[in-house]
Amino acid sequence: MRTPVIAANWKLQKTVKETEDFLDALIPEVKDAADVEIVVAPVFTVLMSAGRKMEGTNVELCAQDVYFEESGAFTGEVAPSMLIDVGCKRVIVGHSERRQYFNEDDETLNRKAAASLKAGLRVIFCCGESLGQREAGKTNEHLSGQLTRGLKGLDMDRVDVAYEPIWAIGTGKTATPGMAQETHAFIRSHLKSMFGGKADAIRILYGGSVKPDNVKGLMECADIDGALVGGASLKPDSFAKLVNFRSQ
Ligand code: 13P
Repeated sequence: MRTPVIAANWKLQKTVKETEDFLDALIPEVKDAADVEIVVAPVFTVLMSAGRKMEGTNVELCAQDVYFEESGAFTGEVAPSMLIDVGCKRVIVGHSERRQYFNEDDETLNRKAAASLKAGLRVIFCCGESLGQREAGKTNEHLSGQLTRGLKGLDMDRVDVAYEPIWAIGTGKTATPGMAQETHAFIRSHLKSMFGGKADAIRILYGGSVKPDNVKGLMECADIDGALVGGASLKPDSFAKLVNFRSQ
């Protein structure tokens, strides 16, 4: 009942040319992929050309960040409607790297998500604990705080949640399927406490060192509805394997 989402988060990587070459290779590989939503999030400067390449395909354009104002004196920022203008259908909000390096707090992220939904984007809202928080037994407490504040008042019909344990990002240390499922089940129970029965329809993506050789085990878990992938999404053949996770 929840269509899986496989999303590439390229972070600070790939020029226009590199992106076009990637999409030329990827699009034919995934054009027949059924029952999966395919999402690619390049850097801002690449969005317009990537959007043109994706027109009429089953690959959807996503931005990695957004601002919550529509216009004005906010040097360096990009508005939700501007993302739509260049072909974006989605935006990632609250990645741990934004929280860590750019001091984005839950209230700011809530405003970003609300403004994006208002403009017509879908949101991938990220949460996740640090190694210290996990080791101190504070994972659930931390995640419930992030979700309660970050998702407050949002229309969850167009929000996917991504659980990305910080200790698993770019480290090669994936959470085991059992560990990830346990936390996803907790997240869903928290979403139920916030949004009632609607929580059953919310996709919860896992992120953190997802690769072609571990994607299937993760995707088989009851509450894992997709993947948000960094490193293994940068090569078209590797990302195509992730999209086609059922045949891994
Ligand atoms: P890696 O897949 O490189 O661990 O990155 C995960 C991530 O942060 C995706 O948003």
